[in-house]
Amino acid sequence: MSGAMAAQMVVALLAFTSLSVASELDCKELVKPLLLDSHSPIYGKWVLHVGTWDKQGLQSDLSSVNSSWVELSPSSDSGVITVYWADRLKDDKCLQGPANATISGTTSHTTFVINGHTSYHDGKYYETCSDCLLSEDTTLLPDGKSKGRYLFLFTRTGNLEPSELDTYKKQAECLKFLPEYHFGSTHLCPDERESASPSVSNTESDQTEENTDVSPQ
Ligand SMILES: *[C@@H]1O[C@H](CO)[C@@H](O)[C@H](O)[C@H]1NC(C)=O
Ligand SMILES: *[C@@H]1O[C@H](CO)[C@@H](O)[C@H](O)[C@H]1NC(C)=O
Repeated sequence: MSGAMAAQMVVALLAFTSLSVASELDCKELVKPLLLDSHSPIYGKWVLHVGTWDKQGLQSDLSSVNSSWVELSPSSDSGVITVYWADRLKDDKCLQGPANATISGTTSHTTFVINGHTSYHDGKYYETCSDCLLSEDTTLLPDGKSKGRYLFLFTRTGNLEPSELDTYKKQAECLKFLPEYHFGSTHLCPDERESASPSVSNTESDQTEENTDVSPQ
């Protein structure tokens, strides 16, 4: 093939690409809620790669987070998922603790107690890349009204392919999130359940450098 032909093909390809970008997103194909049960592909340990929000006011809460991981496990009660979460804040403080999520259809409902504050969250999960967890989190005010939504993409390692990030952005657009993103680091809080310490929640845990370097299982 001549150089000119190749160049023509590239031009044609580019035209085709921009055409498909300009066309409507196929949101029905992009956004498929997962039915939640003990077979759902949501279990195990996940590391936050990226999050977005639908109201400007929610950005500040998320931007205080340096890294986040969560572990979801089925419980003996088929309507309940056991949750363990750990967030490293920008000031390097680690917060972590357990929670129970009740599941019904495509929705989970979780009550978190963080530093003595109780917060209520409705969760929905969507089909996503393999080894990814796409979770829509609605934070509820005590009266049950929505404070706003986040859309989180977790992966097993915390890393993500660029093409998978593109798909996430399209899914976020379909779900009416703002085109703004917060990326998590892989500088994870160590799992305090693995240490001998009997106290579990809300303790600072990174006095030494080496125990902060726990890689995900
Ligand atoms: C998280 O902390 C690490 C090291 O302290 C820093 O290099 C990184 O930029 C931070 N990332 C975020 C998203 O805050
Ligand atoms: C979760 O539910 C179990 C069983 O009802 C209970 O023993 C446990 O304390 C609950 N954990 C939290 C963090 O609420």
